Amino acid sequence: MMKAIIFDLDGVIVSTDHYHYRAWKDIADREGVPFDENRNVLLRGVSREKSLEILLELAPRPYLAEEKAKLAEEKNGIYRRLLQELTPDDILPGVLKWIEHAKEKGLRTAIGSSSKNTDFILERIGLSETFDTVVTGADVTRSKPAPDIFLLAAERLGVEPGDCWVVEDAPAGIEAAKSAGMKTIGVGEYVKDVAPDRWSLTLGEAEL
Ligand code: BG6
Ligand code: MG
Repeated sequence: MMKAIIFDLDGVIVSTDHYHYRAWKDIADREGVPFDENRNVLLRGVSREKSLEILLELAPRPYLAEEKAKLAEEKNGIYRRLLQELTPDDILPGVLKWIEHAKEKGLRTAIGSSSKNTDFILERIGLSETFDTVVTGADVTRSKPAPDIFLLAAERLGVEPGDCWVVEDAPAGIEAAKSAGMKTIGVGEYVKDVAPDRWSLTLGEAEL
């Protein structure tokens, strides 16, 4: 029997894509690296460090580890400033009702996000106290597509991985959930082709 549901944050609960994009674009333009919305899609669900690696694949020169660390930090500074614009109104349509519905069904709830800004984002949108546990990229060494974030969430909730649903909008997240042995609900156009157990365009439309 399913006992828990683990939600990804970015792209499932709230859309932060354009903020990530604006921040990475700033860095890319400054460094003379071609970057557009299509390349931005490749950064979905993966860690900040891995995102930078992907961005720099098209860079005209190689980068030292210290330079990369500095760029990642600068990107996060820009991103955090943009996140100040977030309010509870930015919670995606249908999400609150859906979380309520999951709770009514007796499911324990968690956030499982690669983002090290998770606590800040949940605070901005007023959902800090909503979930039984919150696991982020800061809690693990291996981020998605490794299963670690989701496995830690199940452990904290005291449930078996096989009794967990995962809601995800990114291929890296679906892969992570599958390697954790969990059932997947894919949300949005980017995961339609990676065979989640269920799929819908928005969380509001998904069946539980
Ligand atoms: C994921 C986003 O949730 O978090 C990725 O989908 C992002 O785009 C990753 O790179 C890490 O985020 P942060 O906030 O730690 O830079
Ligand atoms: Mg996501």
